[in-house]
Amino acid sequence: MTDTRADEKPPLLAACAITKGFPGVWEHLILDHIDFDVRAGEVHTLLGENGAGKTVIANILSGYYAKTGGDVRVNGEVVNLTSPRDGLAHGIAMVHQELMLVPAFTVAQNVMVGLDAPAFSFEIQAVQDKLAALSTRYGLQVDPRARVENLSAGEQQRVEILKVLYHEPKVLLLDEPTSLLTPGEADHLFIVLRAMADDGKGVVFITHKMREVFAVSDRVTVLKLGKTQGTQRISETTVEALTRKTFGELVPDYMPRPPTRSSENAVVLDNVVPAGSAEQSPLAPINLAIRKGEIFGIAGVAGNGQSELIACLTGLKAIERGAVRILGKDMTGQSPRAFIELGVAHIPEQRREIGIVEPMFVAENVVLKDYRTAPFSKRGVLNPREITRHTKDIVSKFNALVPDLWTTESRILSGGNIQRLILGRETWRSPPVIVASHPTEGLDARAIRHTWELFLELRASGSAILVVSEDLDEIMSLADRIGVLFQGQLMGPVDGQNADREQLGRWMAGSDEAHVAA
Ligand SMILES: Nc1ncnc2c1ncn2[C@@H]1O[C@H](COP(=O)(O)OP(=O)(O)O)[C@@H](O)[C@H]1O
Ligand SMILES: [Mg+2]
Repeated sequence: MTDTRADEKPPLLAACAITKGFPGVWEHLILDHIDFDVRAGEVHTLLGENGAGKTVIANILSGYYAKTGGDVRVNGEVVNLTSPRDGLAHGIAMVHQELMLVPAFTVAQNVMVGLDAPAFSFEIQAVQDKLAALSTRYGLQVDPRARVENLSAGEQQRVEILKVLYHEPKVLLLDEPTSLLTPGEADHLFIVLRAMADDGKGVVFITHKMREVFAVSDRVTVLKLGKTQGTQRISETTVEALTRKTFGELVPDYMPRPPTRSSENAVVLDNVVPAGSAEQSPLAPINLAIRKGEIFGIAGVAGNGQSELIACLTGLKAIERGAVRILGKDMTGQSPRAFIELGVAHIPEQRREIGIVEPMFVAENVVLKDYRTAPFSKRGVLNPREITRHTKDIVSKFNALVPDLWTTESRILSGGNIQRLILGRETWRSPPVIVASHPTEGLDARAIRHTWELFLELRASGSAILVVSEDLDEIMSLADRIGVLFQGQLMGPVDGQNADREQLGRWMAGSDEAHVAA
């Protein structure tokens, strides 16, 4: 390895020329000779844009996936990890991006689920005691007796971390652990990571956010399209150099644009209470107005009412109370088809589940909402030539990677390519209203910029655009006005250009004085 000196101990964990291929349509290497290592006492960041291979390498190093070639070394020795249990036995633990806890169990019970020996109820006190000790040692406050379903996403993640710390690993790999966190919670997590490193562990922190790299790392390794771009000490690089290496081009902090001209509202939610919300804590009615030619951004941690709000605006769910008016029409209680026909485009978060029909061919999915109308059909007869021409247009305009329009089932496409097709399908008619949920999640830097530019073009042509995203940076780059959803309540909105990141973060965490006082 590059910076091993003869007098130094070998690294706790090293990837040596690791390759990974998935059998499938495209026989290319997902990971191509990956080298990097993590030492005791350091936070080593793996940085890379979406699809770079971060999750796959982390899964290989912790025993979840088999590698195709290369070696995993622990303390300099080649090991053969055939399961996560194997990984733990070698002192390697991974915290996955998704939460994987049993909601009805307590924190301690969730930890016991993962233990080798059968857990008897009389042992729970010992588990709780050990958890309490670990909590204190690393600054991970959580009540071992709390039920997981009553915890916030941030707290649940602390449980995931405690769950692996319980095994006293030497190396922890954390896959994009900040994606569920508010900015304040992320800062706290960095303190925890540092505490673990100071305790002699090796920490592998995975992210695609530049801001976070400089907040926490000792060294950083950039992954791009399955290859390493080398490892550097954080003190020996800059944001600009690292950005160029990682993304090839810059994802802008702010998309310059003229102010919204129209004062006419395209979308109005008047005291709307989404259906089903009464079962949870009573929600405040939502009032929201989006002007023509305006991008309205909604920030917030997932699960704070985003999907309910989107369902109200697309007719996917009935509402309990209040009124929905779109383009001057009362749309309260109308069907999803009525919303589509009025010109409400929907870019959904669940791309595979509701964005496309997976077994359909690419061309069929691209005209899914238009096939009944000219030029794609005439008097009920489809016109395949027009459909092909149009699909080709969208595929090339959005740089989607699609083997064949009429024989490729959409299910085999990657998430990023599916998203490109959905963006094309939903926006090509310049719809008056666009409801977009996480529109750039899973896209690379070039596609993110392309999507933002597309939104600005549509905005200039008068579309009213709602962007819901967990990525506060995306909202701040793009939105004319910004609101934050917290427990079903819409905070704000504030002016996008002068928005205060800290303030938005406090709203996301529900820790603003205004909220507490209420
Ligand atoms: N099970 C799988 N089968 C085929 N391809 C996969 C599988 N898992 C991941 N990939 C592909 O491997 C590449 C790297 O994915 P991933 O490691 O998840 O990226 P990252 O975590 O950096 O966003 C992507 O192109 C992805 O589509
Ligand atoms: Mg990943």
